[in-house]
Amino acid sequence: MLTVENVQLSFGGVKALTGVSVDAATSKITAVIGPNGAGKTSLFNVISGFYKPQTGRVVLDGEDITAMKPHTRAYRGMSRTFQNIALFAGMTVLDNVKLGAHTRLTGGLIASGLRLPSARRQEEELDHEIRRNVMGLLELDHVQDSYVEDLAYGLQKRVELARALVMRPKILLLDEPVAGMNREEKREMSRFVVDVRDRLNTTVLLIEHDMGMVMGISDHIVVLSFGKPIASGTPSEIGKNPEVIKAYLGGAEERSDAAA
Ligand SMILES: Nc1ncnc2c1ncn2[C@@H]1O[C@H](COP(=O)(O)OP(=O)(O)OP(=O)(O)O)[C@@H](O)[C@H]1O
Ligand SMILES: [Mg+2]
Repeated sequence: MLTVENVQLSFGGVKALTGVSVDAATSKITAVIGPNGAGKTSLFNVISGFYKPQTGRVVLDGEDITAMKPHTRAYRGMSRTFQNIALFAGMTVLDNVKLGAHTRLTGGLIASGLRLPSARRQEEELDHEIRRNVMGLLELDHVQDSYVEDLAYGLQKRVELARALVMRPKILLLDEPVAGMNREEKREMSRFVVDVRDRLNTTVLLIEHDMGMVMGISDHIVVLSFGKPIASGTPSEIGKNPEVIKAYLGGAEERSDAAA
């Protein structure tokens, strides 16, 4: 579904990505892991169009999207969540989720502002579909009229996931979806990401530091270290790869040096 080919990205003298190639297979969960500063977020920003690589290509479902702006990529079926909560306080869960549909409402703001019948019909259909598919799948029906700020952290993250799914993306990019969660919330989020793969057939690309989640739900794992892929394989292959273990232990030593 998504192919990143030989991407190089530098910020001045800092080489964030040097020759990175990654594939995300259709209807599978692919995880990108690696020590701090390895280039994971930079890679996501190249994929979603926030950074332009100096060389290399990004291909989505057969189409070269390297030169496209982020919103054009969204129209092409790419959706993402952010590491920090990005919900609108003072709005309900349902309204926050509906905001994810802006790329699907073709009537535009003027049509819906004037309450033209076409725009209203489209909005009603969308409403119906959101309630039936997304809210049900993510078990958000019981809180759909609550204000987002009144929800527990884990539920708020689930609302963000729901919003990212409203456009029925071909690929969903998740940036540390369980960071800051307790064990129960992590378990739930992992289950919902698996449901998104299995019931919506969405392709998922996941950045996550939580090894329990990564090892538990990924079909394929790519390991970055200092801006380069150093390994890729199944969770069990990655778990016993000496290069990977070395990269992580090396990072841990640096961190404890810095703390000392
Ligand atoms: N906007 C930027 N300007 C300058 N340097 C940057 C920028 N973004 C990232 N970098 C540098 O690029 C390298 C990779 O950073 P990146 O944030 O992609 O790592 P990461 O794998 O996401 O790390 P973490 O696990 O800590 O989130 C680092 O050396 C970082 O300092
Ligand atoms: Mg990062």
